[in-house]
This record gives sequence, structure tokens and C-alpha cells, in this order.
Amino acid sequence: MSPFKPLVFSGVQPTGNLHLGNYLGAIRKFVALQESHDCIYCVVDLHSLTATLVHDDLADQTRQITAAFLAAGINPKAHIVFNQSRVPLHAELAWIFNCVARIGWMNRMTQFKDKAGKDRENASLGLLAYPSLMAADILLYRATHVPVGDDQKQHLELTRDIAAKFNNDFSKRIRDLGLGVEMEMGEETVDGFFPLTEPLIEGPATRVMSLRDGTKKMSKSDPSDLSRINLTDDADAISKKIRKAKTDPEPLPGEVEGLALRPEAENLVGIYAALAETSRESVLSEFAGAQFSTFKPALADLAVEKLGPVASEMRRIMADRRYVDTVLKDGGERAGAIAETTMKSVRRIIGLIGD
Ligand code: TYM
Repeated sequence: MSPFKPLVFSGVQPTGNLHLGNYLGAIRKFVALQESHDCIYCVVDLHSLTATLVHDDLADQTRQITAAFLAAGINPKAHIVFNQSRVPLHAELAWIFNCVARIGWMNRMTQFKDKAGKDRENASLGLLAYPSLMAADILLYRATHVPVGDDQKQHLELTRDIAAKFNNDFSKRIRDLGLGVEMEMGEETVDGFFPLTEPLIEGPATRVMSLRDGTKKMSKSDPSDLSRINLTDDADAISKKIRKAKTDPEPLPGEVEGLALRPEAENLVGIYAALAETSRESVLSEFAGAQFSTFKPALADLAVEKLGPVASEMRRIMADRRYVDTVLKDGGERAGAIAETTMKSVRRIIGLIGD
């Protein structure tokens, strides 16, 4: 049992269209967790600067992600929804974590390696430091649980490494100042300030793959729009993309093991299971032996039924820009108050003079 108060935090970047992977891997889980936890959901606009510094429409994309959160069912009154840059303490804590984390840790991040490509020397320093800002997002609220898709797992391990190093390096000051929480670290019990956050990566859609290539992740940056279902796609676009999705010539197997080495079939079955809120086993027991000519229309109908209402609600919310901005402002104020309490303690622990 963690001695920290359970709190969920997660973030989504305002870059490009939200797609089915973001929805099933993250946003839909955000919605479910509201029942059991206090939750903070953040549109991470500062992170999106690491991809492109100059956006034509950063503000609108930020509103669009906010609208998606609300349309999916996140309650901004009972929980907190805000944009990251509105609470500048994220950047302050990230700076401190830049001094905690080691360059070697950052260099090992597969997302950095993928995004920087061959010309690493020319990647922005922000891209390298990205996971340190992500750790700051989470630990500024001393969040204990973070729902994400599988691609964020390594970043969350790094968040734990940063928390553990901070707790260890400052353990005496944390104890002397009485700011510690008793934590089990291996055999020992130490006084730590930051929790070792748990990733929540579960269910059949933690890694939704491209509809054009079952070995590649569905992504906002894929040049082919046919590779992903966008949350804003209408019924025709959803049906067309599923009809054109790559498959193999075999019928569906009766058991999950039969999906091994069939990445496209595995992906479509996983999507069906996640949309229907069931397991892959139960989807296969219904469709065992079916051809894709039968399965794809059933999947398209289900996707339209589940995503259609979210898309139309998103459009409705987006039309009321003032409302969206009020949600972000109110959420930012409440997030800022929690963040300030944490930062006051962090400054004292480190020895920075503040209030
Ligand atoms: P981002 O904006 O790329 O994606 C948002 C969420 O969607 C998940 N996701 C997927 N899940 C399943 N299948 C896919 N194909 C797929 N593609 C994306 C991501 O795992 C993520 O949960 N670094 C984060 C944003 C972030 C953050 C944080 C998350 C910044 N600070 C603090 C959690 C906590 C990112 O780039 O997500």
C-alpha cells in the first residue's frame, strides 16, 4: 500500500488529431478512473513545443483536446482539467529534475531515439529533456497512478527513477524538515517526498496499431490518414478506413493464441474488444471462423456507434470556445494551488529561498 493519497494524473499533447489509440489507450480510461479516484487531466502544451516550436493553431488544438476530454465524459468540476503552461511550476520542477536526471537516462529513451532520428546533434534540447518535464507534470501533484498507452511505459519508469533519486539524495533533509512519508525501498524504510508512481497500462488496447501496417503504432504523425481513425471522423470515414484496413486471407481463429504472427488481425480484434468493453477471448468466441468480410462490417458498426456520439459532442463543445476556456482557467487555478504547496516543500528541501 502506498502511503500517498491516491491521485490520478495524465496528459495528452495538443499535436494533430486525436485518434482511436489515444481514445482507447488513454482517454476512455481517464473517464473510468473518475469513479474511484481524484483525477487531474492536463493538455500538455509545453510538451508539444518539442515537436514543432511554431504551431499555426496551438491554442485551437489545446481547446480541441479539452473538448475531447469533456465529450468523452470527464467531469471538470469534480476533477481537474487544465493546460500545462497555465501552471508555470511545471517548468520550475522540470528544471530541478533536469538536474536530478542523468543525460545517459535521457539518451536511452526509445521515443527520443525515434524522434531525433539520425541527426541527434540537431534535435532540440527540449526533445531530450521531454521526460523530465513529464516527471514534473506527475510529481508536482505527487500523483500515484498514471493511465497511459504502452508507448509511455519507459517514460514512467524514468519518472520513478527521478523520484527515487530525489528521495535518496535529499533523504536527510526530507526527514529533518518533517516532509517525508514513510516508504518501503527494498529492505529499508525511508522517508521519501515523492511517490513511486504506478503506470496503469491495461486491457486489450494499450497499443493500437496502424490500420495499414499492424507492426506500426497508430500515430498522429503517420502521413497516411487511412492508417488511423480520428476522433473527429464521420461514420463514412470510419467505415471506409475499416473496410480498407490491411488484413490477411485467413478466417479469425477461435483462440487468442491463433492471433500470434497475425498483427493486423490481432489489432482489429483488440480494437473490437476495447470498443465493446470485453476481452479478446470473448470476441473470438463470437467470431471464430468468420472471414474479415463479416468481421469488418461488424467492427465498423460498433466503432460508429461508440465514436459517433463523442465526435458530435466534441463539435458541440468546440462551438462554445468561451466555455472551454473557462474550464481550463478554473482547472488551472485549482491545479496551481496544489502545485504551489508541493513546490514550497521542494524549495525548502533543496534550499532555495522562497516564501
Ligand atoms: P500523447 O499525446 O502522444 O498520447 C496521449 C495518450 O495516448 C496514448 N496513445 C496510445 N495508446 C494506445 N495505442 C496507441 N497507438 C496510442 N498512441 C498514443 C499515449 O500512450 C498517451 O497515454 N508524453 C505523453 C503526454 C504526457 C503525459 C504526461 C502522459 C506528458 N506528460 C504525464 C502522462 C503523464 C504523450 O506524448 O502522449
